[in-house]
Amino acid sequence: MPLSKIAGIGKYVPANVVTNNDLIKYMDTNDEWIQERTGIQERRYAHRTEETTTTMAVEAAKIAIERAGTTAEEIDFIVFATLSPDYYFPGCGVLVQRALKMKEIGALDVRNQCSGFVYALSVADQFIKTGMYKNILVIGSEKHSFGLDFTTRGRNVSVIFGDGAGAVVLQPADKEGQGILSTHLHSDGESAEMLAMYNPGSHANHWGAKNYADFDDAEISDMFMSHQMIDKAQLYPFMDGPAVFKKAVVKFPEVIMEALSKSGYSSTDINMLIPHQANLRISQFVQQKLRLTDDKVYNNIQKYGNTTAASIPIALCEAWEEGKIREGDLVCLAAFGSGFTWASALLKW
Ligand code: UT7
Repeated sequence: MPLSKIAGIGKYVPANVVTNNDLIKYMDTNDEWIQERTGIQERRYAHRTEETTTTMAVEAAKIAIERAGTTAEEIDFIVFATLSPDYYFPGCGVLVQRALKMKEIGALDVRNQCSGFVYALSVADQFIKTGMYKNILVIGSEKHSFGLDFTTRGRNVSVIFGDGAGAVVLQPADKEGQGILSTHLHSDGESAEMLAMYNPGSHANHWGAKNYADFDDAEISDMFMSHQMIDKAQLYPFMDGPAVFKKAVVKFPEVIMEALSKSGYSSTDINMLIPHQANLRISQFVQQKLRLTDDKVYNNIQKYGNTTAASIPIALCEAWEEGKIREGDLVCLAAFGSGFTWASALLKW
């Protein structure tokens, strides 16, 4: 059974740079707090009307397809990971199929938030390994800036996130031992409400969402989409940051070690770790725990913020473009986020 390899990779980030100081116009925050707690200096925000999650994905995909030496017509499957789709439904996969004038191929959308890209890669990997498809486009793209609470109330979430897209083309590997060695996917729904966007949804607070204390039962039972939701700012993501942080610093190293031990490697064998860019402090914690030197961990959250499903393909692309990943390198991708879900992939580049 051939392994699957990343044959081409591309990224797209909007031109609009938003610094920490720019955010001070909207909320009570400051550059020092943001840098100290997250490492973020600036992020990109998509153009309000001209750029969407899908248009950014299409730009990243065009580059990945060209670098893979193929064409959009030759792509035989799409897997698209995002939590900020253009539409509630249909998903972004079909919009990419349309925009790139592809054949009537399958298009699958993955909803695994920060772990979305690694989940998507794992799905594509299975299709390549079984021989069902030969040329799969895997995308992570997010336009967070349209749906964040830019008041002081939402500052713990809104300063973190940014927009952008990354894409890869997966093909059967032609060299022995090259490609994706293994992928590892996990979830624990116990803390699903710790990092979530509850509305609009069918839950009617069945699960006890975390920011519903000021609603009475009648309001809640009438709640697919209501005026109260807008009045009480219930249409924004909710995050218990410290709880997420505590779990992330345990699960990141665990899932990386799982991938390494599956193929008989140890952390010293890693040439490049690409962690999901959740928070620079989380990446530094993981680096320390695995005793990796600075040149073996790639971080670009300082420039782009947390781009959720897009962060790994953007970082992987940038590391590769900078010549920091070379043929034969052992590359590990790892993610943790809402769900909670977490995942890793180990690749021989
Ligand atoms: O990729 C998705 C997965 N998400 C994550 O991995 C996020 C993980 N968690 C984190 O990165 C951190 O928890 C945050 C960066 C979100 C927050 O950092 P923290 O050190 O955990 O801060 P905190 O939430 O405990 O808040 C500390 C203080 C609070 O003030 P008081 O109650 O101590 O007076 C907050 O109100 O900081 C305040 N605060 C802010 N101050 C200035 C929260 N957000 C801000 C802000 N600017 N943007």
